[in-house]
Amino acid sequence: MAHPEMPTALTFDDVLLVPQRSSVASRADVDTAGRLTPNISLAVPIVSANMDTVTEWRMAIAMAQAGGIGFIHRFLSIEEQADQVRKVKRAESHVIEHPYTIGPDAPVQRMVAELSARGVNGLPVVDDAGGVLLGLITRRDLVASGLEGTVREAMTPRERLVVGTTQTTLEQARDLMATRRVEKLPLVDDAGRLAGLITMKDIAHLDLYPLATKDARGRLRVGAAIGVRGDYLDRARAMAEAGADVLCLDIAHGHAEHAIDATRELRRTVDIEIIAGNVATAAGARDLIEAGAHGIKVGVGPGSVCTTRLVAGVGVPQLTAVMACAEACHEAGIPLCADGGIRMPADMSKAIAAGADSIMVGNLLAGTSDSPGTLLKRDGRTVKVHRGMASGGAMRKRTEMDAGGAADADAGPTRPERRWLLGRETEPGEFGKVVAEGVEAVVPYRGETHAVLNELAGGLRSAMSYSNARTVGEFHERAQFVRITAAGQVESRPHDVEV
Ligand code: XMP
Repeated sequence: MAHPEMPTALTFDDVLLVPQRSSVASRADVDTAGRLTPNISLAVPIVSANMDTVTEWRMAIAMAQAGGIGFIHRFLSIEEQADQVRKVKRAESHVIEHPYTIGPDAPVQRMVAELSARGVNGLPVVDDAGGVLLGLITRRDLVASGLEGTVREAMTPRERLVVGTTQTTLEQARDLMATRRVEKLPLVDDAGRLAGLITMKDIAHLDLYPLATKDARGRLRVGAAIGVRGDYLDRARAMAEAGADVLCLDIAHGHAEHAIDATRELRRTVDIEIIAGNVATAAGARDLIEAGAHGIKVGVGPGSVCTTRLVAGVGVPQLTAVMACAEACHEAGIPLCADGGIRMPADMSKAIAAGADSIMVGNLLAGTSDSPGTLLKRDGRTVKVHRGMASGGAMRKRTEMDAGGAADADAGPTRPERRWLLGRETEPGEFGKVVAEGVEAVVPYRGETHAVLNELAGGLRSAMSYSNARTVGEFHERAQFVRITAAGQVESRPHDVEV
């Protein structure tokens, strides 16, 4: 029943930030770093959504290099998802502690297949018994040797290699590789065994990606999504083993009791931080924090491909949802991630001003070169597919995947359809089945991920300088909103011109 004093809820377009006297002279003086969890901070507080049209390993690498982070979706087998996590963790590091290797007697053709499968350009050659370094083989060696013969015949042997030791610092490695003009520096221990590998690419990336989100060993950070039923604890363990830095619960109604219980169970099971959600109220945030969440994800229905509000009539406009949850999160010292509905830089600025520490983005990143899927041509425009994880197509894929295993009720409908939106009728006997709460769509191609992130972060920096804030914490304290009318919204957009 409607409450007589029903509160009003607002979203991004309903408000603007009020400009304030500011001592911030340059936008470069603003630090946009936001916390994702108590232990993970993002120089660019943007997270790519755990959706199958947004985040697989390529996107996760691009996000972490740019200073954000990506969450690998869970519409994959446990092994496939773990593989994706491993790919990100191996993409960069100060020292590759366990490089892929090959034995000397392997045929060159197998080595070539290994290079492609592993996504690397060369392999240290080690003796099969003791791991002693015998040489290094790269694609370049094959120019002379061709594709016949064994690795031993084609490799650059140990005596002609430039090598370092376990004591070699990054600076020494950089100098050594530059002066000797090599791209890979194997490290050996006192017994001559391979003890690691430093690559020029990793060193160059230190300069190329100064804001990168990295763990203590210099590896890019990555998150992984987890359900709340079925084999979710096995999946969580596998992600932790693969090196995931953080997990996020992937459930539409995070204030369901089974989501709260799952948060508690995950805390008991794995030793990595957990972001729980999605919620849209302070009570939801508090219950998940009490269950042990290290971060809260906020957003019920604001996403670009969500139809929860149309199908179920449920949701809270995102600005109000963030403000309500921010109070609970800040009291407990737990970061808040605003998930969904970010269409332009201003939305990010308003979400952070309202109390979010980071934002999760689907749509804007689905159109970049790093998202899964290929480019399509539609009416002369270049586009990519973006779909809700509770949409018909995503659910069909899930159902196929689950055919051999336990169905996961939280994934949504078992017989996914968009009948309601398409105006079709439910088939007889289907009463009681869950209906889709997302759509499939295309989004314009937007180029590279870092360009999208730069635009969003640029808007945030500008908004912070208008609010006299040098840090996200100051922005939370000082930002002031005004509510605007429909006339104000019209005035805010380009008008009376042909764009
Ligand atoms: P944007 O607006 O960035 O939002 O595309 C991404 C977020 O949308 C949520 N999501 C869904 N919500 N039905 C929903 O109600 C769906 O099918 C669906 N798929 C994704 C999710 O929170 C994501 O991060």
